[in-house]
Amino acid sequence: MTFSTKIDISKLLIENYTNHRVVKLSSLKEYFSEPEKVDEILKERGDITVYEYYEKIFEGEGVNLNFGLTILYPGKVGKEYFMTRGHFHEKKAAEIYVGLEGQGLILMQSEDGRVEWQPLDQNRVVYVPPGWGHRTVNTGKERLVFFFAYPSDAGHDYEIVRAKGFAKLVLEESGRLRLADNPKYVRARGF
Ligand code: F6R
Ligand code: ZN
Repeated sequence: MTFSTKIDISKLLIENYTNHRVVKLSSLKEYFSEPEKVDEILKERGDITVYEYYEKIFEGEGVNLNFGLTILYPGKVGKEYFMTRGHFHEKKAAEIYVGLEGQGLILMQSEDGRVEWQPLDQNRVVYVPPGWGHRTVNTGKERLVFFFAYPSDAGHDYEIVRAKGFAKLVLEESGRLRLADNPKYVRARGF
């Protein structure tokens, strides 16, 4: 079956999506470098949404392209900007991101520990190569909205990033963006 669909930014949805996931701050506690500051925000503001995504997931014959829309809200935990959990694809599969609204970046890390980042803003296409872990960070004051597409057989591995984090933290210091070494990151084989 062929089809086409429109991204409606004002309604923030992709028609015919199969999956809508809302990720709350409490579930991200261990991902931030200062988890105790997550507790402070939870006390003050409750369990706010950090990001959500609408995804069209395909099942069936052949390798399809899953695609969707992520909305990452602005905010910080201490100096660290709001971000997605981040993951590796289980199969070495690339991904395309297209910025639609807001200001941010994609932090990427290869399996041998190289870190690179690319800006993500309106009309920018970012290529995430196979074998690179990736996390999106909202460095702006408004929501960051982006489109993504990846092979349907890619699979998602969240465990490595959950356990070890990325080698770099994305911080705001004196009103400016800074990538700092992550003191909790321990380099080990495979990431
Ligand atoms: C899919 C992908 C994005 C993210 C989404 C949420 O491969 O990279 O669609 O899944 O932006 O981030 P995570 O999955 O890290 O919670
Ligand atoms: Zn991905």
